[in-house]
Amino acid sequence: MTTLLLHLSDVDEARWAAAYGAALPGVNVVRQAEPFDPKAIDYAFVWKPRANAFDGLSNLKAVLSLGAGVDALLKHPALPDAPIVRFVDEDLTQRMSDYVVAQVTMHQRLFTRFKRDQVARVWRQNYPPAAGETNVGIMGLGVLGADAAQRLVGMGFTVLGWSRTPKTLPGVRTYSGDQLDAFLGETDILCCLLPLTPDTKGILSYGLFSKLRRRLDGGPVIVNAARGGHQVEADIVKALGDGTLGAASLDVFESEPLSPHSPLWALDNAYLTPHIAAISNVDAGVRYFSQIIRQHEAGKPLPNVVDRKRGY
Ligand code: NDP
Ligand code: OXD
Repeated sequence: MTTLLLHLSDVDEARWAAAYGAALPGVNVVRQAEPFDPKAIDYAFVWKPRANAFDGLSNLKAVLSLGAGVDALLKHPALPDAPIVRFVDEDLTQRMSDYVVAQVTMHQRLFTRFKRDQVARVWRQNYPPAAGETNVGIMGLGVLGADAAQRLVGMGFTVLGWSRTPKTLPGVRTYSGDQLDAFLGETDILCCLLPLTPDTKGILSYGLFSKLRRRLDGGPVIVNAARGGHQVEADIVKALGDGTLGAASLDVFESEPLSPHSPLWALDNAYLTPHIAAISNVDAGVRYFSQIIRQHEAGKPLPNVVDRKRGY
């Protein structure tokens, strides 16, 4: 009998187990704390797996990652050799694009400035730029970046995108690899949707912020909904303080949960959310991975397998 092991931390594992049980009749669904024979496990569905998560799983067919990002999973000291399938789903993508669009619009329409004026009871008619006069640069044109870019194009923004390899996307001015500086020099609002890899770690640094275009009232803006490891938080604090950046919307942090002592909390031009940009929804996740298990058991190849050499 096909057996699926759930090994989840910081989420409601019982809820996922019940949903998998209902979606996969004929599959034995076991949770990490229940007794099971490790040699009988075919699939391991994981999120923030503990050190012992893969002990004895010698017949594993695939590791299924609840997260779209697999940077932490790839660092697991006992990660088995089995293929890793990451979460790719319309619901997740829609949620991320919602977050990006909300942040971009908030900054482009100068809502942040009007809120400050409201607090000060000041009537000041600063006219926001039109969408088309605002250049939004998306770092990472994968599943999430490409969707966010397309949605912003549909709203009339001037959209630029940067990826590792060249890409063509309707209505998007694309850059790749060493064209980063040219991309930054045309960008007013920079959105990071990169995977965290050795190449992208710490990319959101003071030096990079200084290269952004300075046409938006108040200064350029960054939006990071990818991973905290992309950002150098001390540099963000410095840049928000000296005007190199006008504002920052951050959903992710170098260390999560963000320490109550972080200076970011107190900055009125920082807009913080606790890693909620795109939550993996139980119904969508179970639908996606159940279909993968059923199809793989029927002999079909696994989709969305992580390339371990690339790191995403
Ligand atoms: P994909 O793997 O589909 O896309 C990654 C994109 O980044 C690709 O376009 C890739 O280029 C580009 N890229 C990778 N390395 C580099 C580099 N060195 N230089 C330039 N571009 C690079 O990922 P997704 O879109 O699915 O997800 C992106 C990230 O979003 C995830 O890794 C995860 O960390 C984060 N995330 C955050 C969530 C949240 O709630 N905050 C929720 C879900 C995901 P190429 O096209 O050439 O391969
Ligand atoms: C993910 C996340 O990677 O929620 O899916 O951050």
